[in-house]
Amino acid sequence: MTQSEATSWTTTKGTVRVEVEGPIGWLSFNRPEKRNAMNPTLNLEMTESLERLEADDRVRVVVLTGEGESWSAGMDLKEYFREVDQAPAHVQTRVRRESAEWQWRRLINYPKATIAMVNGWCFGGAITPLVCCDLALAAEDAVFGLSEVNWGIPPGGLVTRSLAETVSTRDALWLIMTGEPIDGVRAAQMRLVNEAVPRERLRERTVEVAHRLAAVSPSVMRAAKGGFRKARLMAWDDAEEFLYAKFDQGILGDPERSKQRGLEGFLDKKSFRPGLGAEADQARGD
Ligand code: COA
Repeated sequence: MTQSEATSWTTTKGTVRVEVEGPIGWLSFNRPEKRNAMNPTLNLEMTESLERLEADDRVRVVVLTGEGESWSAGMDLKEYFREVDQAPAHVQTRVRRESAEWQWRRLINYPKATIAMVNGWCFGGAITPLVCCDLALAAEDAVFGLSEVNWGIPPGGLVTRSLAETVSTRDALWLIMTGEPIDGVRAAQMRLVNEAVPRERLRERTVEVAHRLAAVSPSVMRAAKGGFRKARLMAWDDAEEFLYAKFDQGILGDPERSKQRGLEGFLDKKSFRPGLGAEADQARGD
């Protein structure tokens, strides 16, 4: 079986599990015995897996989740901290770079839609990839926390920057300064995740949201989310230039001709009302 035909595989060192199910690429942290703590090997295999799913035309949405009871218990205290602390400085620099490579850089710039499905523990360094996924859904009883101050460091990596992207200053500082855990319901109130649902509904709800995203043309999706990610940090003049460029790119590069079909469906055939949601896509036809 060629790589592109495979529907499930585990990475060489076994730290990441991947499953392609229709348009969804399920990407799972696969160290359940270590509560999916992120060690240097997992960081490399996550980059490799994200790259492979990016190139897989079957996949329109990537869902990041964890095997077992944990999403991820954060950076691996033994293999990412203790062991690397004892290594030469250039090793620490490389290990940090490889961690940042996927935890924020790849994810935040990922051309396909991404969803974090938080099925359990989510601590410390795991907050960065959580925030850098486009959307996040959590089990109501998932547990989140910035535990770093509890064991003697300020939040590591890009965790603090990630929090500033998502929650209010008051909530961010509460999490950072107290190290207290919160559940999925509180995380949704803080807008650290979009929604918290009962654990037994988490996968079903995630699949529902993923299918909704998968119905959008990949070219339009890429331009839409990429436009937001970059433009929010720009001055208005720059944003105007950039967003029109993204707008044109999204439409010109769209083999599905979504814009033309959408306008024809609404203006000429009067077959659907785009303001009323996803069913519009089926109704507009050709
Ligand atoms: N780094 C390295 N190993 C970790 C880890 C981490 N972040 N989190 C859990 N593990 C390991 C434990 O050392 C243990 O390994 P062992 O079986 O070889 O002893 C195994 O995972 C199970 O952990 P345990 O604490 O027994 O599981 P639990 O279900 O009772 O508790 C947690 C789960 C997540 C609440 C707890 O493990 C914990 O607090 N982890 C640290 C979380 C943290 O502070 N993360 C921030 C890092 S930046």
